[in-house]
Amino acid sequence: MNVDTEFSNHANTYGTYNIIQDKVIQHLLSKVNTEPKNILDLGCGDGSLCKKIDWDYHSFTGVDFAKGMLELHPKSENIECIYGDFNNQELFNNLYTNNYDFIFSSSALQWAYDLERVFKNIKAFNLPIALAIFTSNTFKTINKTAKINSILKSADMVEALAKKYFDVNIEVLTYKLEFNSTKEMFTYIKKSGVSGSRKILSFKQTKELMKNYPLNYLEFEVSFITSFSKS
Ligand SMILES: C[S@@+](CC[C@H](N)C(=O)[O-])C[C@H]1O[C@@H](n2cnc3c(N)ncnc32)[C@H](O)[C@@H]1O
Repeated sequence: MNVDTEFSNHANTYGTYNIIQDKVIQHLLSKVNTEPKNILDLGCGDGSLCKKIDWDYHSFTGVDFAKGMLELHPKSENIECIYGDFNNQELFNNLYTNNYDFIFSSSALQWAYDLERVFKNIKAFNLPIALAIFTSNTFKTINKTAKINSILKSADMVEALAKKYFDVNIEVLTYKLEFNSTKEMFTYIKKSGVSGSRKILSFKQTKELMKNYPLNYLEFEVSFITSFSKS
């Protein structure tokens, strides 16, 4: 299943399972001490970031490639949703014709096929940014138990790439999410969209993993990348 289909299929339950993503948004917003008026949000999902903005703005543009998520995004005179894929150059070429003064992206860019190219495209706006990207210590013990490598980039790799394009501040935070049972834990992974649909384990391997997973919590690691100067 593609990432867009996976997010669309789970769009209706995303709001119940996005506990960590909500904390990530809160932290990302706490780092921004201006009140941007024309906001672009890449990978906006169901509008969780838009809903948490508590200042007046002229325009908010959310971009996402999962139609099911966009359907849930708030819309109004000053909120626009664009169906688009941040892996596509054409999307950026269209966005460059609009006027924004700040770019957000929360819990989405870890799914970029080519993060460097996306950074290059973001850099071309020449705007302040606040990005939160899940990194490879997310599900560290799951990966270790299942003897698989993370599909995510390490925090060091993300930092090196970000520093190539922006004059950035980087903060890496870890989060833990506790569960009453392993079943609950694995349902969460499926429904929250953090697995990104790239299933690498068979049904049997997943059962084995659930049996052997030693923790009652999931681990998450997020790189917060902020740059408030226009480069
Ligand atoms: C974990 S959700 C985060 C949504 C929202 N930003 C939040 O913090 O709640 C990731 C979102 O990124 C979107 N996404 C992933 N890859 C994308 C791409 N290449 N282009 C546009 N959106 C993408 C998914 O459809 C999904 O809505």
